[in-house]
Amino acid sequence: MTQDEQKQAVADAALDYIRPHLDNNMVLGIGTGSTANLFIDNLAAVKGQINATVASSEASVDRLRRHGIPVYDLNTVDQVDFYIDGADEANSALQLIKGGGAALTREKIIAAVARTFICIADGSKLVSTLGEFPLPVEVIPMARSYVARELVKLGGDPVYREGVITDNGNVILDVYHFPIPQPLEMEQRINNITGVVTNGLFARRAADVLLLGTRDGVQTLT
Ligand code: 5RP
Repeated sequence: MTQDEQKQAVADAALDYIRPHLDNNMVLGIGTGSTANLFIDNLAAVKGQINATVASSEASVDRLRRHGIPVYDLNTVDQVDFYIDGADEANSALQLIKGGGAALTREKIIAAVARTFICIADGSKLVSTLGEFPLPVEVIPMARSYVARELVKLGGDPVYREGVITDNGNVILDVYHFPIPQPLEMEQRINNITGVVTNGLFARRAADVLLLGTRDGVQTLT
């Protein structure tokens, strides 16, 4: 399968995964990006069975609503049963780098609330050590230069993602040349820098299930 075919295959597999659980009380969390978009398009076929969704970006809210799928504010729901989202990188412990689409903060919030986080990704995203993909860090705008200097002290090479303002009104620094052998520790250290809103390491809250596209089909990792 090509990369695009793998994305479609994992989006299909995610729908199959949740289908037996669709009922009137279920709340689905929906992520952001090209793979999540394919999953949103799949949901249109079962929208009559979807009680509520919450979404990690305004772009995904718009796409869900265009399909006539109900979207709620996270504060108005009691629980999120499943969170389905893509990733920029994943390791075998299902720890992730996310935020290539600048939605990392809302993604992390919904992942924290969700009972089960299902990550959907094409095979190119599986790595042995996180960090080949530049790590996104969402930053309060006035702290940008200070946070960049602190990230250099941690060994990274932060680059301001120009022209991008997050849904929360903040900016993104992408940290290049930054292999991350200890994701849990690094997630915590970056979070401790004043002015950082979130970093794109999903180590403390890793995925529960990774549906990974391969040339031969979808592999389920838990
Ligand atoms: C957005 C994300 C996406 O999940 C990540 O960038 C993967 O995107 P795609 O499915 O387009 O490869 O974290 O902030």
